[in-house]
Amino acid sequence: MRIAVLGGDGFCGWPASLHLSDIGHEVAIVDNLSRRKIDEELGAESLTPIATINERLAAWKEVSGKDIEFRNIDVAQDFEGLLDFIQEFRPDAVIHFAEQRAAPYSMKNNRTKRYTVDNNVNATHNLLVAIVESGLDVHVVHLGTMGVYGYGTAGMTIPEGYLDVSVTTESGETVNQQILYPSNPGSVYHMTKVLDQNLFAFYAKNDELRITDLHQGIIWGTHTPQTQRDERLINRFDYDGDYGTVLNRFLMQAAVGYPLTVHGTGGQTRAFIHIRDMAKCIQIAVENPPARGERMKIFNQMTETHRVRDLADLVARISGAEVAQVPNPRKESAENELHVSNDTFLDLGLEPTHLAEGLLLEVEDVAKKYADRADRSKIPARSLWTAQQAEGVPAGEK
Ligand SMILES: NC(=O)c1ccc[n+]([C@@H]2O[C@H](COP(=O)([O-])OP(=O)(O)OC[C@H]3O[C@@H](n4cnc5c(N)ncnc54)[C@H](O)[C@@H]3O)[C@@H](O)[C@H]2O)c1
Repeated sequence: MRIAVLGGDGFCGWPASLHLSDIGHEVAIVDNLSRRKIDEELGAESLTPIATINERLAAWKEVSGKDIEFRNIDVAQDFEGLLDFIQEFRPDAVIHFAEQRAAPYSMKNNRTKRYTVDNNVNATHNLLVAIVESGLDVHVVHLGTMGVYGYGTAGMTIPEGYLDVSVTTESGETVNQQILYPSNPGSVYHMTKVLDQNLFAFYAKNDELRITDLHQGIIWGTHTPQTQRDERLINRFDYDGDYGTVLNRFLMQAAVGYPLTVHGTGGQTRAFIHIRDMAKCIQIAVENPPARGERMKIFNQMTETHRVRDLADLVARISGAEVAQVPNPRKESAENELHVSNDTFLDLGLEPTHLAEGLLLEVEDVAKKYADRADRSKIPARSLWTAQQAEGVPAGEK
């Protein structure tokens, strides 16, 4: 297949591009390298020394013999450039990772809130309009987030995107329907993913675009079999307070002897998936598109759920690190349960990598190996969710 990967220079997009190229697809990466510019803006670098996109692609050619094309296009701003690319490359599938993906960055200030909405919503809408305009039958696979559901589930298992509801009409008849699961975003970033899914529902209905939205859990891990083939292919590892994801932050903190920063009581339960499984899920999603005219498919892309304080205890046990409870910068429930259905990927052959198998390896192979590159001043999470918190008043817990 011919597959375009929007955001293919990023943490998920790069290993996914290599995986798809490795199994024989023709891959083109589209990226405006904005994530690297945000590194400069924040003065925070990946813990791992990532090569430039040109060095990465040359190294992949050297080790695999395969070409991956690269186009520097701002998908949110350069509609004509995106349309020209789609008309020229004629992809069978587009994997859409090209969004600003950090919740703390999206809540930092007025500028980053507006940038996140402009960038993410325009990128998604431009892609859909460009596909309609091209007249091509392209399957869109988008990386969404489990965070569209919110984390208060009234104890039920979160279904894959759609909720069964029964309504009673005025004449007393019971009508059964499926609706999009009610959204409850916890940040501006998560809200853009909610807007994305409404755009998808509309274009699937109106223009019969084939769309799969993957509601992904938090990624942990760094390496995939492809990124390990040469140091120049290494994936990024964010540990800073804005972009670092919780488990990778704990692993890095353990490696540099910094107490593991648990926000609040650490009672938040979240869904997780290893980066290798993410790449495999993308492959499965690409190979199982919806039919034309079918509603958007939604898969929950996660393999296990954990409470944050339990993760901190686990990392502390294997590494000897200390755990420190710090005030929660977010406005969220202090404690929540989370039960998620992920039957589609399991039925389609995903064999999950479990946390217990991979954690120690990550501490040794990545976090400790590159610990000397860490800037400890970038570790604390400084983005606050509300103006009251900035004045020192804790956010009201729901
Ligand atoms: N990392 C996670 O744990 C996680 C969890 C759930 C969902 N996701 C989703 O997966 C996707 C990828 O996440 P990631 O962790 O790889 O993020 P990332 O920031 O590392 O990668 C995103 C890439 O998209 C590019 N990009 C952003 N805006 C663009 C634009 N307008 N035009 C062209 N390129 C643009 C960036 O330069 C970057 O290379 C995101 O949509 C994110 O919401 C990630």
